[in-house]
Amino acid sequence: MSKKSKINFSIGVFDSGLGGLTVARAIRRLLPAENICYFGDIARLPYGIKSKKQIIEFSKQNTNFLLGKKIKALVIACNSSASTSLDVLKRKYSLPIIDVITPAAHLAASVTTNHRIGIIGTAATIESKSYQKEIHRLNRRIQIKEMACPLFVPLVEAGWLDNSITHLIIEKYIKSLLRSKIDTLILGCTHYPLLHRAIKRVAGPGVALIDSAPSTTERLRDVLKRRGLLKEGVGSHGSLKIYVSDLPRNFLKIGERFLGQKITHIRTVPI
Ligand code: DGL
Repeated sequence: MSKKSKINFSIGVFDSGLGGLTVARAIRRLLPAENICYFGDIARLPYGIKSKKQIIEFSKQNTNFLLGKKIKALVIACNSSASTSLDVLKRKYSLPIIDVITPAAHLAASVTTNHRIGIIGTAATIESKSYQKEIHRLNRRIQIKEMACPLFVPLVEAGWLDNSITHLIIEKYIKSLLRSKIDTLILGCTHYPLLHRAIKRVAGPGVALIDSAPSTTERLRDVLKRRGLLKEGVGSHGSLKIYVSDLPRNFLKIGERFLGQKITHIRTVPI
């Protein structure tokens, strides 16, 4: 297969649900000519509370599904998958694989001025210590404070993005991180960017919030460019095809919130 024809292949993106559409949204913004093929494993959501072994198995199946759709690169948009499965997927598949953790960890390490970074995510992501390991590879002197926030995903799915109960829950989770005087907080879960405003309100202006989507997209662009696979084209619009393993009630609305626009192409497929 020539590189020229491969350029027109899609970017495969997967997540446990539709939260990864925040990454698809960032790709559409930075790389509008690229076609995106998205898979959201809604039937088996949430991943964040499952065992490492189970998440790795699901991540392999999701990748196999996307490989059947002619993709030239894979973005693991799910933090729980990336933190448990990145190495396994990189060993197993030969296409370029970009995850959401590495770029956000690098960005956070460059943003902090007092060398105190907070990380919030699902139990699977926090237990993996993957953000911490990546940050310490860059700078061992950075102090890390982590907290699993299991109630954030249901809050976002219920649409409770910025109300008094949400503020109380955020405060309860991040209180100890703020006490440790963090100046940077990584939103280490696909759902959390939707809580950005509420988290900012609780954390205050002195804490920079890091959302993985923009830095992941920049990393994707650099990798594609280096490999001669970047699809450029001023004014051209690539397609966005969304596949899900189930589409329960309300999820389309939730997905549109993540994507920031109407979803026009979505298909339920068996996995
Ligand atoms: N997509 C997951 C993540 O980023 C959050 C939802 C889940 O637990 O599956 O960790």
